[in-house]
Amino acid sequence: MKKIAAINGSPRVNWNTGTLVRDAAEGAKSAGAEVQVFDLYRLEKYTGCISCFGCKLAPNTGKCICRDGLAPVLQTIREADGVILGSPNYLSNVSAGFRALYERLIFQSLTYKREPRSYNTHRIPVLFVMTSNAPKAIYDQMGYTDLLQSYQSTLETFVGDTRIYVADNTLQVKDYSRFDWTMFDIADKQARHETVFPQQREELFSLGAQMVNQPW
Ligand SMILES: Cc1cc2nc3c(=O)[nH]c(=O)nc-3n(C[C@H](O)[C@H](O)[C@H](O)COP(=O)(O)O)c2cc1C
Repeated sequence: MKKIAAINGSPRVNWNTGTLVRDAAEGAKSAGAEVQVFDLYRLEKYTGCISCFGCKLAPNTGKCICRDGLAPVLQTIREADGVILGSPNYLSNVSAGFRALYERLIFQSLTYKREPRSYNTHRIPVLFVMTSNAPKAIYDQMGYTDLLQSYQSTLETFVGDTRIYVADNTLQVKDYSRFDWTMFDIADKQARHETVFPQQREELFSLGAQMVNQPW
């Protein structure tokens, strides 16, 4: 049975990112995979890379040796046949919790050699979901297209073939009337949540299934 790791990098477990990551996870399950879901903000305390270089020395080359809340997540990804990653856009990047995972996931495989560049020989499909307040129409202008391309290229070098899925212009809170936020078209946000978000959930379910037994 194939194994899939699914990781939610939003502190809000059941909001946009967590929901979409779980939908992709359900899709993978429907295709026969065993799926383990992690909510990064519910783990034991962890940090980003601490620059110990343990992953560059035998017998641990290619493996992060830092024992904290992320260790089981990294181990599950190492043993997986595919990984679903999700992060909200925080200040034009991924969330801090997600970035810590990303540093350790990537750096453990980086060889500091010309060839090969990666210690990782077990390449697996990657689905990277980003959710954002910003609509896709302003992604180029905001630098988000370049940001996502950079994540994609690094994930492809060190983990495996990567597909990016963007869920843009998300509903950020249930009740906008509590806040004095003037920059949003609230009716449009709510309408999108009722019409577009369910479609995105279905698309992610399909992508999760595709990751298991179809070409990626
Ligand atoms: C700290 C913080 C920073 C954010 N920065 C951005 C940003 O720079 N660009 C953007 O489009 N959305 C930004 N957002 C909005 C979130 O990316 C968006 O609402 C996302 O869908 C939230 O994911 P969640 O519902 O899974 O928590 C930010 C939200 C927070 C809390």
